[in-house]
Amino acid sequence: MSAQQMLKVFVTRRIPQEGMKILQKAGMCDLSVWDSDEPVPRAELLKEVAGSHGLLCLLSDKIDAEVLDAAGPNLKVISTLSVGFDHLAIDEIKKRGIRVGYTPDVLTDATAELTVALLLATARRLPEGVEEVKNGGWSTWKPLWLCGYGLSGSTVGVIGLGRIGLAIARRLKPFGVKRLLYTGRQPKPQAQEVDGEYVSLDTLVSESDFVVISCSLTPDTKDLCNKNFFSKMKKTSIFINTSRGAVVNQEDLFEALSSGQIAAAGLDVTSPEPLPTDHPLLTLKNCVVLPHIGSATYFTRGVMSELTANNLLAGLTGSEMPSELKL
Ligand code: NDP
Ligand code: DGY
Repeated sequence: MSAQQMLKVFVTRRIPQEGMKILQKAGMCDLSVWDSDEPVPRAELLKEVAGSHGLLCLLSDKIDAEVLDAAGPNLKVISTLSVGFDHLAIDEIKKRGIRVGYTPDVLTDATAELTVALLLATARRLPEGVEEVKNGGWSTWKPLWLCGYGLSGSTVGVIGLGRIGLAIARRLKPFGVKRLLYTGRQPKPQAQEVDGEYVSLDTLVSESDFVVISCSLTPDTKDLCNKNFFSKMKKTSIFINTSRGAVVNQEDLFEALSSGQIAAAGLDVTSPEPLPTDHPLLTLKNCVVLPHIGSATYFTRGVMSELTANNLLAGLTGSEMPSELKL
């Protein structure tokens, strides 16, 4: 391809080499990369995207009308290194006829695994235990010291039994879970595999010992977990969120945790990210916060990078994408 025919692509972050190699080898991209592990500043994004045919972005880049206008009419494809797409202004993108690639399935196992790890760490108070060993708080074996809650015989409620929700349910069932409840927009035939019972949100929240959030962030799910929601949970129940921070009203969660309305919470996602180090939630022993590492295995991030690059190339050439978001 001659230099004039090369298609301009902006990559908003340093990404795993698997994807970069694919883009370089394709020989059709005039690549410009924000070569950093930190997010591209908004002003740079607006500048760099100008005239691009393709945009490879991350979940931390807000791609709205301003960015699309700055990109201009050449923009054919946006490929995000994520399965979540709440950072993309889908209506605006659709209006402009731009295609979108994303990364479903390839991160399902890693994210489900992390969710189970977070659930167990929260319910069995692992961070507190580790801290006590280090700070000398471990004096002797005591019958009620650092007791938590177990999965055996419990009721687990999954909000959003999609790809990741189902993968979480599959992993939790063998721990001896007695009832697996789920809720969403409609019952799912695949729930049979985990003996899932489709129930209303209210039933799920009030009957579950573990409430696991794995839905996508939409206008309907924003702030779903609020004061009213937490007030219906059992005092002994555990709340786990690995979807998006904005599904939760964090002030209401803080109140529920500090007043003993619920037993504990484990969050892999917060609003904002990073959560400021002086945030009230971080003062609570019964709140375990992780830095959005659901899909963070070397293998998964490599495959996500590959898929994101291949989606981008397919969008540039007008061919079928391995994973295209249906707009
Ligand atoms: P899916 O689209 O397969 O699942 C999303 C689920 O959310 C669907 O079952 C959907 O139900 C459900 N949902 C949508 N609206 C509602 C609602 N109003 N009430 C209840 N449920 C609802 O996506 P994935 O499972 O692949 O991913 C889910 C989310 O997980 C992503 O959108 C992302 O935000 C997050 N994620 C987080 C990661 C992390 O690192 N912590 C890693 C990967 C993903 P229906 O089918 O009926 O529409
Ligand atoms: C996603 O893909 O949406 C996650 O949040 C990061 O893997």
